[in-house]
Amino acid sequence: MTFDAAALFDLTGRTALVSGASSGIGAAIAEALDGAGARVLRAGRDRARLGPDGISADLTRGATELIEQVDARLGEGGTVDVLVNCAGSNPRPPLADIDDALYREILAVNLDAPFQLGQHYGPRMAERGWGRIINVASTQAHRAFGNSGVYGVAKAGIAGLTRSQSEAWAPRGVTANSITPGLVATPMTTAVLADSERSEYFRRRAHTGTLGAPSDFAAAAVFLAGPGSAWVTGQNLCVDGGLSVT
Ligand SMILES: NC(=O)c1ccc[n+]([C@@H]2O[C@H](COP(=O)([O-])OP(=O)(O)OC[C@H]3O[C@@H](n4cnc5c(N)ncnc54)[C@H](OP(=O)(O)O)[C@@H]3O)[C@@H](O)[C@H]2O)c1
Repeated sequence: MTFDAAALFDLTGRTALVSGASSGIGAAIAEALDGAGARVLRAGRDRARLGPDGISADLTRGATELIEQVDARLGEGGTVDVLVNCAGSNPRPPLADIDDALYREILAVNLDAPFQLGQHYGPRMAERGWGRIINVASTQAHRAFGNSGVYGVAKAGIAGLTRSQSEAWAPRGVTANSITPGLVATPMTTAVLADSERSEYFRRRAHTGTLGAPSDFAAAAVFLAGPGSAWVTGQNLCVDGGLSVT
């Protein structure tokens, strides 16, 4: 048996939509998919960081605005082959300070939008017989971490959503997996990492003795988006320097 290693990761001819592509992990994943040959549609809110081709939509209002813009960009017959749900927000107020409006806002970005994007693109991928859904989860799906509040609730939902998407569409060539990051230096974690004692604790706890960087997610995303991972579905891949097993 011989393998063309490059072909296992080749995304030529595929179109990827990456939410949260204006910053941090999502920006790195978008670059990586682009490097593997995909046409990448980058979504976020901040037009300046997204660049001129980026698609700006606020997911606290739901994913409809984003879907409309993406579909208009793709035109008749065009669709998304690889959906990466990476947009996330974690305002971290103590749980007792979270009112209904904030609860809904946090769920809208972290859980509702991945659900809505999956509902729109998943069946279209299945119809074409090929697709990849990658949901970015969190250790807070399984354990509390510094006012995880409703963010943890949403990420626990992402774990279930990933399994449901896999069950629904894997029979027709669409895999759904999640990536769980460890502690990664991005704008989302600036406040956490400002506490040097705490960041040092997590750095030491990881088997690698390091915090993560957005670039650590490039290869994992290309693998899960590529043709070589066709029989990997419903799984969660921890990219965390070993933090989850300490
Ligand atoms: N960093 C970590 O240690 C860590 C750990 C576990 C999980 N994660 C997860 O990894 C993913 C990426 O996080 P990151 O660390 O890379 O954070 P980040 O640098 O702050 O990026 C967050 C991204 O989400 C987008 N976003 C936030 N609110 C949005 C909204 N209302 N509508 C549309 N887009 C919105 C942001 O867009 P704009 O900036 O353009 O608004 C940005 O592109 C998230 O799902 C996060 O939960 C991160």
